[in-house]
Amino acid sequence: MSTHPTLPNLPHVPGTDPSRCVLDGFRIAIAQKISNALPQLTTEQVYQGVDFGKKGVDFTVALPRFRLGGKVDELAKTVIDKFEPDDYVESVISDKAFLHFQCRTPTLVKSILTQVTELTHNTPTKGGEYGTNSGGKGKKVVIEYSSPNIAKQFHVGHLRSTIIGAFLTNVYKACGWDVVSMNYLGDWGTQFGLIAVGFEKYGSQEALEADAIKHLYEVYVKVNADAEKDSAVREEAQRWFKRMEDGDESALKNWRVWRELSVKKYEEEYDRLNVHFDYYTGESLVGKEWQDKALERLEEMGLISDEDGAKKVDLEKWKMGKAVLRKKDGTSIYLTRDIGGAIERYEKYQFDKMIYVVASQQDLHLSQFFKILKLMEFPWADRLEHVNFGMVQGMSTRKGTAVFLDQIIKEASSIMHEQMRKNEAKYAAVEDPEYVSMEIGITGIKIQDMAAKRINNYSFSWDRMTSFEGDTGPYLQYAHVRLSSIERKNPNLLPLPAPADIDTSSLTEPHAREIAFLMGTYPDVVRVALKTHEPSGVVTFAFRLSHAISSAWETIVVKGEPDEVKARARIWMYICARDVLGAALRLLTIRPLERM
Ligand code: ARG
Repeated sequence: MSTHPTLPNLPHVPGTDPSRCVLDGFRIAIAQKISNALPQLTTEQVYQGVDFGKKGVDFTVALPRFRLGGKVDELAKTVIDKFEPDDYVESVISDKAFLHFQCRTPTLVKSILTQVTELTHNTPTKGGEYGTNSGGKGKKVVIEYSSPNIAKQFHVGHLRSTIIGAFLTNVYKACGWDVVSMNYLGDWGTQFGLIAVGFEKYGSQEALEADAIKHLYEVYVKVNADAEKDSAVREEAQRWFKRMEDGDESALKNWRVWRELSVKKYEEEYDRLNVHFDYYTGESLVGKEWQDKALERLEEMGLISDEDGAKKVDLEKWKMGKAVLRKKDGTSIYLTRDIGGAIERYEKYQFDKMIYVVASQQDLHLSQFFKILKLMEFPWADRLEHVNFGMVQGMSTRKGTAVFLDQIIKEASSIMHEQMRKNEAKYAAVEDPEYVSMEIGITGIKIQDMAAKRINNYSFSWDRMTSFEGDTGPYLQYAHVRLSSIERKNPNLLPLPAPADIDTSSLTEPHAREIAFLMGTYPDVVRVALKTHEPSGVVTFAFRLSHAISSAWETIVVKGEPDEVKARARIWMYICARDVLGAALRLLTIRPLERM
C-alpha cells in the first residue's frame, strides 16, 4: 500500500490504515527499516515500538523494549549502518539505545494535506471523515448518558454526563461502531407519588405547560417540605406510588403528561447543546419480569435476606455492602430497575459493549449491579462499563442559584454577549449575536468540562471559561473563525486545484511542518480517545493545533505573498488546519463558528 503514487510500497501491518492515517505509513516505513537491519524482528513487532519523539524528533524507537539480548548500542549501530534514506524517512540518529527518525518533509507535508482534503471533502459519503477509522466495524455499543430525574434538579453531574456521553457517542461513531445512545430518565419512584399528592395542592396546569421541568420541581420542593413535617403526606405518597407500580391508570394519568412535557423541554435544551438521543427511556419503562427473576435467582444463591419485609442482597463478600432490592410494600427501587433494564437492553440490542456515563458518586451502585449481573451468570455481564467522572464545585448563575439546564445555557450566553459588546466595532459586524454568543458560551462550558481528566474535580468559573485568553472555549472558536476568514479574504487563490496539482515544495518553514505533523496525529488522537474514554486528549490537541497556527500567522502569510505558488500552498495548509480543528471541535460536540 502506498499513500502517494510515487512512494515506495509498504507492507501491511494489522491494525494500521495508511489510507486514513498517513503517519501509520511513516511508522511502517521506519519499522520496516529496523526489521531489515535486525531480521530477528518482524516489521509488525517493531511497529508496536515506534513512538512519537520528543523535542523536534518525529519518531523514536527504544530498542531495549524488544529484549533482544546482547549489546543494544551495537544493535542501534547496525540499524544506522544499514540505513538508507527514502521518500518516507530522511535520517536516523542514535542516542545510546534510542533511535530517532526524521520524516522527509516534502512527503510528510504533501501527504498529510492531501489526506485531510480528500477525507474531509471528497469521500463517496458526505465527507467529514478525516480522523475516523473502521476499527469498530460490525460492533454495537449502547451508550447511556445524561439521565436526569424528572422533577428534580438537573445538577452538574447530569451536565457532565451529558457532555462526556455525547462526546463518547461521537468517538465510537468515528471509530466505525454502531452506536445506540439513550437517555435513561429518572421518571419513576416514590417521589412521583409525592408530586402527585403535591400537585393537587400546589400544581398549575398553566405553569406546567410553560415550563414543566421548573414547575414540577417547585411542586416537589413544597410537598417534600410538607412530608418532612407530616408523615401522613409521606404515607399517602407511598400509597400513590404503589398504585402507579400496580398499573392503576387513574394514578398514572398525570404522570404521563408530566413525563411527556419534561422530555419535550429537555429535547429543546439538548438541541442547543448539540446533543441528540436515539431513545428516551427511563426507569418507568423497565419491565417487572426481570426484576422478579433477578430476585429469585439471588434467593436461590442464598444471597438474599429478609429485613422487616424488605429484600436485601448481601455483597459483603465482594466488599460492596448490602443493598435493598425490594421495599417492604413490594415496590421496586433504583438498583432493581438497573438490573432489569440491563437485561432488557441486552435482549433488544445484543450489544458488544454498554457504557454508563454516571458520576463517581455512584461508583458503588454501578459496581453492585454489575456484580449482581455477573452472579446471575449472564455471559455478557463483563461487557458493561462505567465511565465515571469527578465533581464540580459551584455551578450556579451569578445570582446564585441555578438548578436548571436552561438557566445555565442562558447565563453562558448572556455573559458572552456582554463580552462581545465590549468591542463595539467587531460587535456591529456580527450577524446574529444571540446565536453566536450562545454557541461561544456553550463552547466555554464544554471546554472547561473536558479539559482535564474526567475523574478530576474542578470548580466552575464563569470568568475563566468565557475569557478569550488562555486555553478556553472562546479561544478555540476564535482560532476557527480566524482560519475560516482566510478563504473570504483571498478569493483570487480559489478554488484550489486538486491536491495532486498543488505545489507544496515551498512549505518548508518549521511552523508549517509542525502544523502538518500535528494534523497528521489527529487520527491517533481519536484512537486514543476511544481507548481511554477521555475527552481531554482531544481538547489538548485542539489547543496545540491552535497555538501552532497562531504562531504561524506572522511569518507564513497568505495575503501579500507575491509568489502565487507559495501563497496557494499556504492557503491550502490553513484551510486544512481549519478542517482539522473543525473536526476536533465537532468530535467534542461543539459547532465551530465561521464568524464572530
Ligand atoms: N437518574 C440518575 C440520577 O440522577 C442517574 C442514572 C444513571 N444511570 C443508571 N443506569 N443508573 O442519579
